[in-house]
Amino acid sequence: MANPSLLILPGDGIGPEVMAEVRRVIDWFGANKNLTFDVSEDLVGGVAYDKHGTPLTDETMARAQKVDAVLLGAVGGPAYDNLDFSVKPERGLLRLRKEMDLFSNLRPAQCFDALADFSSLKKEIVAGLDIMIVRELTSGVYFGEPRGIHKEGNERVGINTQRYTESEIARVARSAFELARKRSNKVCSMEKANVMESGILWRDVVQEIHDAEYPDVELSHMYADNGAMQLVRAPKQFDVIVTDNLFGDVLSDCAAMLTGSLGMLPSASLGLPMANGRPKAMYEPVHGSAPDITGQGKANPIACILSFAMALRYSFDEGAYADLLEGAVEKVLADGARTADLMGPDGGTPISTTEMGDAILAALDAA
Ligand code: NAD
Ligand code: IPM
Ligand code: MN
Repeated sequence: MANPSLLILPGDGIGPEVMAEVRRVIDWFGANKNLTFDVSEDLVGGVAYDKHGTPLTDETMARAQKVDAVLLGAVGGPAYDNLDFSVKPERGLLRLRKEMDLFSNLRPAQCFDALADFSSLKKEIVAGLDIMIVRELTSGVYFGEPRGIHKEGNERVGINTQRYTESEIARVARSAFELARKRSNKVCSMEKANVMESGILWRDVVQEIHDAEYPDVELSHMYADNGAMQLVRAPKQFDVIVTDNLFGDVLSDCAAMLTGSLGMLPSASLGLPMANGRPKAMYEPVHGSAPDITGQGKANPIACILSFAMALRYSFDEGAYADLLEGAVEKVLADGARTADLMGPDGGTPISTTEMGDAILAALDAA
């Protein structure tokens, strides 16, 4: 059988720096576990704009549609902030998500024991935390029409539209319930049904799917603003959280800090099954291109490496290897390896992006 295929899109800023460490991990699996991927690489974001005048060419889009999984680093940066909206780096990422129909974005937030002291919250609030945010990724206010900036009389008006169909809500709800069954069997759905009609529909449809298909799963509903507060107050009350595109974006950055750093949080964006049974999929860290630390060897590669672990689990049915890789990350953290973002209030000497990669490879060797 042919090797599974991976398209790597390192992107901008620290994207290539953290992806370089993932390449080493991929090579390690080839050399040590006979798990070899056909890896190709291409441009997305600002670097694609620089070369082609667009953040994602049609050719790259077509390649992404054909491979078994896409790994993406990060896009964006100050050099591109004043570009026309239609060619901003972020549009490349949004096009990939939309055209691959990656509606279910899994953003786990797990607090490794070794980092419980590094969270901005008290240790007992975050120690042992393991939650999964399921963010709807292809609809809502990110894509709804009408949108734009136009003139009304003497002033400009900016418009975006929050729009959800029943089927869009139903499919991401199913994805959350399925995941919950493999975890603690508990889902909390977040919206603002108190002020938004799309929130009322969201709540109704999630409840209907629950009652008809997943009555065994414990379901609760919460307004998203309260959800943000509860995430900081008592995050361990949650297991799976399902929410829309924009609330999911904000709540997942919030959850990231519970784990100690944004540089720790991976994600999987999943769509419908392809002909070979694997879901359409893209894996990327939750963080962005971190222009403030680009080129300094300071970036934490763990979010990107753990995103590859999610690829092993969700695209390639290699859960044992995903466990192995996650275990190696846990081990190096327990041994005290820290990139600059993981320096606690007491300081210490940080290691570089590459040294963190070295440590994880050494832990894989030793496992
Ligand atoms: P950011 O995530 O890039 O950075 C926020 C803060 O977290 C910065 O201080 C940064 O140094 C730090 N940080 C992020 N990742 C880190 C890592 N791996 N290791 C150590 N520290 C890390 O968010 P931002 O500054 O709001 O956005 C910068 C650019 O990235 C913008 O153009 C934005 O649109 C883009 N962005 C892209 C993605 C993506 O590609 N998926 C996600 C978020 C933001
Ligand atoms: C994320 C990012 C993206 C989003 C941007 C870069 C388009 O913030 O993946 O969390 O808003 O979805
Ligand atoms: Mn975000």
